[in-house]
Formats: sequence, structure tokens, C-alpha cells
Amino acid sequence: MSTLFARLKDVASPTIGLGCMNLSHGYGTPVPEPEALRALDAAFEMGYRHFDTATLYGATANERLVGRAFQGKRHQVLLASKCGMAIDPEIGKKVVDGRPDTIRHQCEASLQRLRTDHLDVYYLHRLDRQVPIEESVGALGRLVQEGKIRAVGLSEVSATTLRRANAEHPVAVVQSEYSLWTRNPEIALIDACRTLGIALVAFSPLGRGFLTGTVKEPASLEESDMRRNMPRFSDENYPRNLSLLTDFTAIAQELGVTPGQLALAWLKAQGDDIIPIPGSRSSAHMRENLAAEDIRLAPETVVRLNTMMTPDQVAGGRYSDAQQAEIDTEEFAASETSTG
Ligand SMILES: NC(=O)c1ccc[n+]([C@@H]2O[C@H](COP(=O)([O-])OP(=O)(O)OC[C@H]3O[C@@H](n4cnc5c(N)ncnc54)[C@H](OP(=O)(O)O)[C@@H]3O)[C@@H](O)[C@H]2O)c1
Repeated sequence: MSTLFARLKDVASPTIGLGCMNLSHGYGTPVPEPEALRALDAAFEMGYRHFDTATLYGATANERLVGRAFQGKRHQVLLASKCGMAIDPEIGKKVVDGRPDTIRHQCEASLQRLRTDHLDVYYLHRLDRQVPIEESVGALGRLVQEGKIRAVGLSEVSATTLRRANAEHPVAVVQSEYSLWTRNPEIALIDACRTLGIALVAFSPLGRGFLTGTVKEPASLEESDMRRNMPRFSDENYPRNLSLLTDFTAIAQELGVTPGQLALAWLKAQGDDIIPIPGSRSSAHMRENLAAEDIRLAPETVVRLNTMMTPDQVAGGRYSDAQQAEIDTEEFAASETSTG
């Protein structure tokens, strides 16, 4: 049972949620709408109840899709969306904007597209380095008071920013990349979340497909697939990273599970407050991922896995330099604090 769900909604839910982005954004040509609706319908039928989208995804197309899919089932699902990063229709480019007016305006638009009068979680997708976090989170807090959102979320923030934000208005959930090959939240963020009683939603829990062992040749990915610009998937780094999968895949085989399920089970073993949201365009993969809900790893297996893909063994950064510049880090937060 998801701790996030238990806190926010009176409906039973598996811990594992569904990342809806992939149907419209980031992983090649968007899935045609009838097929995408069928996939979301199947996801609901197989038991998913927590669905993650954002203003950004597909330049708002993903929110429209999710809104259409869960019309009539609204009270049975936890809808999480994000603001503060969007495609500017005039320039066709991604813009980070965490100003209070923008947040309010984007929330109204998200509600319309998602065909609902409230969101269960609304995240600030990225910290806007031009806007103090207190101002952005203050705007989200006012949306809570007005009943437009149930809970405030933050995405990709440092522990320092999280503490500042939470002092302004309680934060219910942080969303960060977390998987066996991306352990950044273990440095400080998970501790901060636990101290403050905040859930951690783990995005890209399958290492953007890497941990499933099915991505053999990044060069064969579609031209528009975002992984083509990610250093870990480069011609130089990917073969080195693939070699880390040999022992991992062997453990999955020993346990009679798929590598993707092992990756999700490892995350679940990190604590009840860690909520993985694997993304997929395929109902078969969605089903396989949800089945990881019932896998319990022995403590000694978790220890073996912990040492199998340590940060110094993984080749390449998780983001390109341009994307990394958008990310809040402890170094940036410290410089902000010292300069006031
Ligand atoms: N807050 C943020 O900044 C942020 C950033 C990125 C993502 N997210 C959220 O997190 C969600 C998940 O992240 P993600 O999609 O980037 O990464 P992910 O879940 O780690 O991996 C997705 C990739 O794994 C593949 N896959 C999924 N299940 C599989 C299975 N059972 N067997 C083989 N391949 C499988 C998918 O391909 P198929 O489609 O073929 O299954 C896709 O290529 C997104 O949908 C989005 O909602 C948030």
C-alpha cells in the first residue's frame, strides 16, 4: 500500500505508480491517442491508481490524455501533475518559470486539461533559480488553501531547498530520479525527507530502461528519443554501463524475476516511503512492473545489489550539461544561502 496514497486519498493503492509521460514525451514519437487511452485504461484495470503527468509533457498533450482517460474515475485515482516548466508555444522551447503568477495560471490550465477541480499533488517541476523557493512554494500553498491542490510537491530539489520550502509551507512529496544506477538522493535528500515526514517519488526507477536489460543499442533508438542526448547512453559510456548488468541480470534469474522487476523491488526495499513510478508505453510492461509490488528481497540480496552499481562504477552523468544546468544542487543552494 502506498504511503502517499494512504496520506492523501481514502482508496487502497499499490505502492508502484505509473509515469504517464512516456505516452506523449521523451521516448520517441508520441503514442497515437486511441492506443494511449487503451493503455491507460488497461493500467487502471490491472490496478494502478497513482498517475504522474506534467504541464511540460507533450507540450500539455499528456495532461489532456490523462484527463480524458480518467474522466468518470476521478475519485478512484491519485492525479499528480507539475508546473513551473513548460514549452513556450511562441518559441517552441522549454522554459523554467516558478513565479507565483505563472504557477497559478498553469494550475488553472492543468485542472482544465485534467478535467478536474483539484489535483492530489502538484509539483514545482524545477526550481527557478531567478525566484526564491519561498515565493514558488508560497504560491502552491495558496492553491492548497483554495482547494485546487491537495498537496505540495517539489521535483529535483536539493535537501537545502527542500528545508527552506517546507518552512514556508508543508511539502508532502518530493520527486527525484532514484534507481540502482542513480543514487543521488542517498547523499542528503532521503534523510531530509525522512526527518520532515515527506514521501519520495522515485522517477526513472528503471534507469530509463537501462535496468530492464532490453536497451542493447542506444543508436537504434528513435532520433527524438531523449536518451540519445544523455551521457550514460553515449557510444563511449553505454557499453561500459552494459557490463554492469551481467551480475544484476544473474541475480534476477536466480530469483525468477525480470531485471526490471528486480530494479523496482530494490527501490521498494529502501523503505515504505519510496514510491517508484516506472514509465511505459506498453501494457505488457506495465503489468510486469506492477507485479514487482509483491516481490520482497532478502536483506543479503539488497546488500549484494547495493555494491553492484555504485556511482563511481556508472559511466557518464545522468543529464547533458544543458539539462544539468536546470537542476538544483546542494552547491547552488549553498551559494544562494551564503549570498542571502
Ligand atoms: N520530475 C521529473 O523531472 C521527471 C523526469 C523524468 C521522468 N519523470 C516521471 O517518471 C516516469 C518514469 O520515468 P522514465 O519513463 O523516464 O524512466 P523509467 O521508468 O526508468 O524507464 C522507462 C523506459 O523503460 C522501458 N520499460 C518500462 N518497463 C519495462 C519493462 N517491463 N521491460 C522493458 N522495458 C521497460 C520503457 O519502454 P516501454 O515504453 O517499451 O515499456 C521506457 O523506455 C515518467 O513517465 C515521468 O512521469 C519525472
